[in-house]
This record gives sequence, C-alpha cells and structure tokens, in this order.
Amino acid sequence: MSPSSATPSTVKPPAERLYGRVRGHKLRPRQQALLDLTLPRLAFPEALAADPAAAFAARPAELWLEVGFGGGEHAQALAAMHPEAGLIACEVFENGVCSLLSRLVPDGAEADAPVPGNLRLWTDDARLLLRQLPDASLDKLFLMFPDPWPKARHAKRRFVHPEQIALVARVLRPGAEWRIASDDPTYQAWVAEILAAQQVFTTPEPATERPPGWPPTRYEAKALREQRRPLYWSLRRT
Ligand SMILES: C[S@@+](CC[C@H](N)C(=O)[O-])C[C@H]1O[C@@H](n2cnc3c(N)ncnc32)[C@H](O)[C@@H]1O
Repeated sequence: MSPSSATPSTVKPPAERLYGRVRGHKLRPRQQALLDLTLPRLAFPEALAADPAAAFAARPAELWLEVGFGGGEHAQALAAMHPEAGLIACEVFENGVCSLLSRLVPDGAEADAPVPGNLRLWTDDARLLLRQLPDASLDKLFLMFPDPWPKARHAKRRFVHPEQIALVARVLRPGAEWRIASDDPTYQAWVAEILAAQQVFTTPEPATERPPGWPPTRYEAKALREQRRPLYWSLRRT
C-alpha cells in the first residue's frame, strides 16, 4: 500500500522546528506549581547535551531517549523498570508534562518530594536535542504512537522521515534499538516504505502484539479500544 501521494522521494524536508512548547487549556495552580517547582529539578539542561550522562543523579550505564511521551506513563514505567538506564523523555505539550509530574510528586510537595534520579525531561522539540547529542551516545530510542499527520501535505511533519533517518542513525550506537509503534495505517505504510529505502537499521517485520518489556501507553489503549491494530517495530542500528 502506498501511504499517500507524498512518497519519501517527493515529500518536502522537515521544518527546522516541528514544535515549540504547546499549551492546551489554562493551567491550574497545581500544574503551575509542578512546572515552577518540580520541572526544574527534572529538566535536562541543554548545556549538558555534549555529555548527557552527566545530567543524571548517577552516571547511567545506558542512555535512552523517548520522543513525545504524551502523559508519560511509558517513560515513568521504563525509568522504574530500568534503574541502570538514564532516560531523557521529551514532550512539547505542557499538559502532558504536568500529567507525568503529577504522578511523580504528591500535591503540596512539588518543591521537595524526591524525583527519579534516572529520568530527565526535555520540554521542547526532541529534534533540537537530538541534533546536539554526541555521535553514538544513545542505546535506545522510543517513538510510541507518533502524531500520524495522515494528510500528504503534512508528511514533512512526521518524525519518521527520510531526512531524519541520518540524524537518528548518528546518535544511536551500533547495535542500539529504535522502537516505533503506530496504530495509523498511513503511518504504518509510511514507516515500512522509509525503512525499505535505508540501510542503517535492520528492518524486521513489525510485531502485531506489544512485545514483552514494552510498557503500555495511553494512545495504544485508545487505539485498541477503537479497534485499531498497532504495529511494533524493533529496529537495530547496523
Ligand atoms: C499521539 S501522541 C502519543 C503520546 C504517547 N507516546 C502515547 O503513546 O500515549 C504524540 C505526542 O508526541 C508529542 N510530540 C510530537 N512531536 C514531538 C517532538 N518533535 N518533540 C517532542 N514531542 C513531540 C506530541 O506533543 C504528542 O504528545
């Protein structure tokens, strides 16, 4: 199936910046306190992009990054399951950031409740950080249910994009894993088409059930409720 008239060879290059910080509805006082008092204790400092392991409470054995964590359930679960890894979780949507923070610290303890030492948050376009990370610095990259941008004229906004393969390949070390999940048929076909045209990642058939060790996400639950069929890719950097 061809995803749309915007095939990888005709699609426009991605915009320099896909997103800035995005605000939904007006923030409630608790959300404001989370952003003012808790986020600074978890934020990944841009100044450490050249030495990202230094951003964690202890230097982690592996460095992982999640693009677009949404409500953060997947990032929170990964960080709890893997204390040996340092996870940089990226999300531009403020309400999503607040949702994750609200599960990490109790109401009233935003300034001083302990926060996970192996989790750091980047609240801007993930690509701005990826461009600054050293070569071969990441052991895993997670892209769970990215915005599908199903219209052909919006294909340049898709995170999986011919021009971004090189960026992702540069920051992943040889043997590193790139996990992608999508429930959108257009995006699924698009991923398959783009993977077929590159050689820097192995291209196994996607799984039709969530593989063991992959925490669930909110979008996945919604997709399953609405009878959509997610696909799960586990790519390896060659
Ligand atoms: C469809 S939602 C999926 C959220 C979550 N991964 C899940 O499965 O529940 C995609 C999320 O990615 C975020 N996002 C999209 N592009 C991004 C980028 N370049 N950098 C950071 N976040 C991004 C959006 O704000 C949105 O919250």
